[in-house]
Amino acid sequence: MSLLVLDGLSKSFGGLAALGNVNLEIADREYLGIIGPNGAGKTTLLSVLAGQLRPTSGKIVFDGQDITGWSADRVASVGLVRTFQLMRPFESMTVLENVAIASHNKIRSIPKARDHAADVIDRVGLGTYKDAMSGTLPTAGLKRLELARALALEPRVLLLDEVLAGLVPTERAPIIDLLREIHQDGVTVLFVEHIMAAVLALSERLLVMHEGQQLALGVPADVIQDAAVVDAYLGEDY
Ligand SMILES: Nc1ncnc2c1ncn2[C@@H]1O[C@H](COP(=O)(O)OP(=O)(O)OP(=O)(O)O)[C@@H](O)[C@H]1O
Ligand SMILES: [Mg+2]
Repeated sequence: MSLLVLDGLSKSFGGLAALGNVNLEIADREYLGIIGPNGAGKTTLLSVLAGQLRPTSGKIVFDGQDITGWSADRVASVGLVRTFQLMRPFESMTVLENVAIASHNKIRSIPKARDHAADVIDRVGLGTYKDAMSGTLPTAGLKRLELARALALEPRVLLLDEVLAGLVPTERAPIIDLLREIHQDGVTVLFVEHIMAAVLALSERLLVMHEGQQLALGVPADVIQDAAVVDAYLGEDY
């Protein structure tokens, strides 16, 4: 049985169909890459799945349960957790405090939530910045903090929106290793990303979106050869 089923999922903003009839089944523990040009609907798809946006039509079934129209908090509480393309931590709070807020959703005791947050912070490699103000972190640190806030909610499915954007290759490599470890620990990942080397290194299957629609879906080696994908996104030089 699929862990996550998207059935005719659509989202319109006025006359614009940002998402048009997406049908997709994602297996438990799958690593699904999602690519496509700017404006293809990738972030909209994650927002609809994570409960920030209500779909215009269609259905989302997670672990056998219809979660369509649920709030973001409720969706996160059953294990569907996203990161944001634009990171928005509480800048005048420390890294630990930011992650502890997320942990506190799972763990009612404040000292235990802080301990849990500290463990998650170590895991994403931010241990030395635990007591730093979040607003002082460089981009790579903010990306790790964004991951830590998501991991603190103990996701079964992690929805990642361009966690590698804005990083130089030396900053990307350790985060790619971290993402691989998270997946190996049993987390299902939906990985929206433009950095193709990372997409190909991590994804077991690849979804290509274009103008809100599914342009291609399959094993990465096949999908990147697809003439429509080359035409719409990758380009001849890829
Ligand atoms: N809140 C909104 N209101 C109106 N239009 C929106 C809204 N959010 C997204 N859109 C539009 O929906 C379309 C899909 O946007 P989306 O952000 O999902 O694209 P994307 O694939 O994530 O692009 P990128 O690679 O640039 O992040 C775009 O045309 C965008 O302008
Ligand atoms: Mg986006």
